[in-house]
Amino acid sequence: MKVLVVGSGGREHALCWKLKQSPLLTRLWCAPGNAGIAAVAENVAIAAEKVDELLAFALINAIDLVVVGPEAPLVAGLADKCRAAGIKVFGPSAAAAELEGSKGFMKDMAAKAGIPTAWYGRFTDMDAAKAFIRAKGAPIVVKTDGLAAGKGVVVAMSLDEALAAVDMMMGDKVFGDAGNELVIEEFLDGEECSFFALCDGVTALPLAAAQDHKRVGDGDTGPNTGGMGAYSPTPVVTPEIQDEIMRTSILPLVRTMAAEGKPYTGVLFAGIMVTAAGPKLLEYNVRFGDPECQVLMARLRSDLLPVLLAGAEGRLHDITLDWRDEPALVVVMAARGYPGAYDKDTVIGGLDAAGAVEGVTVLHAGTALKDGKIIATGGRVLGVTAIGATVSEARERAYAAVDRLDWPQGFCRRDIAWRAMARGL
Ligand code: AMP
Ligand code: GLY
Repeated sequence: MKVLVVGSGGREHALCWKLKQSPLLTRLWCAPGNAGIAAVAENVAIAAEKVDELLAFALINAIDLVVVGPEAPLVAGLADKCRAAGIKVFGPSAAAAELEGSKGFMKDMAAKAGIPTAWYGRFTDMDAAKAFIRAKGAPIVVKTDGLAAGKGVVVAMSLDEALAAVDMMMGDKVFGDAGNELVIEEFLDGEECSFFALCDGVTALPLAAAQDHKRVGDGDTGPNTGGMGAYSPTPVVTPEIQDEIMRTSILPLVRTMAAEGKPYTGVLFAGIMVTAAGPKLLEYNVRFGDPECQVLMARLRSDLLPVLLAGAEGRLHDITLDWRDEPALVVVMAARGYPGAYDKDTVIGGLDAAGAVEGVTVLHAGTALKDGKIIATGGRVLGVTAIGATVSEARERAYAAVDRLDWPQGFCRRDIAWRAMARGL
């Protein structure tokens, strides 16, 4: 099979790394890829948002399966265009990708499906939004309806903070049109996790849960990032909680999306808050999490290619997944300054030594090859991924690999999986 993976981050490196191991694979491309992905796939110089160029490439090269990593091309209709052209694709239609593209749509679908989630209101008027906030009181959460690169959320602990968020998002349009509509919702208290299921429009197959670390600093301090590290499985999602998440947050959504004429195909990523009253939905994303994908791929023993193909062909009911017993953990190395301004094009050394640590795979997120050297090109640059007999062993291995890197302009959090450590795992 000839496969095209779309994207250029650590998630796409993990997917390519895993697909490369498939005996069914004949050729693997990644658009646009990065320097690490080039070791397992052929990079194609087409940006992930250029959906028409990607479609043309897939047609010319008779691609058997397109696997879409990030949300932007999905929201822009890449999966629809592939399907219309007779190309198999793993990823939701633009209509279904609105679950991530519009928080208001996501909340309306969750309400229709009866999914346990925060109460909410949708607003296009500033005064109405503020009146709702005053009536409900703090803590309360203010979100832009549209995509705002993961930054359009203010968890407001006070009324003033919430009212200021409305001014910032809707008044000052800090996130542009994404703030034309706001979702204001209940603050949920508990422990957060990322839960993943594969869907083919009808069937949903649980993958696994992971725990991300969104803040940039140790102890969950500092600004939000795309994710500074993850591990899986996570102790907060017991088998009972996983069943409850499938029963209350995944299966009813898949049924409702089908009934709405927007069947959901692809990976469904549910952000879940495990509260004292059980798991509650925070949000859906229409893709694998990054860096969560890295630990899921490290743990998955099954061949990924026939699984994604079954998702694309509506045959997930035939699939059972096999997982390794060992937990996996990923430490993200970012360029100093991230998530603010950071230096680019700094040289990274020690990659081979880091990758030689037992159980470790160094996945690339933002790298390029220049004059024979690997350079950092993004904010999140590497995902040092390790498996081990326990979370602590995986963590020791990952940090041993981090310490072998020679990249003074990089940094990482030193406390990934602290919640598991606190539980003695
Ligand atoms: P999002 O960009 O929607 O992923 O939200 C960013 C983060 O805000 C989430 O990962 C949560 O930690 C937090 N968050 C979002 N919604 C809520 C909520 N209703 N209650 C508490 N925290 C929330
Ligand atoms: N790591 C969280 C995300 O991919 O959205």
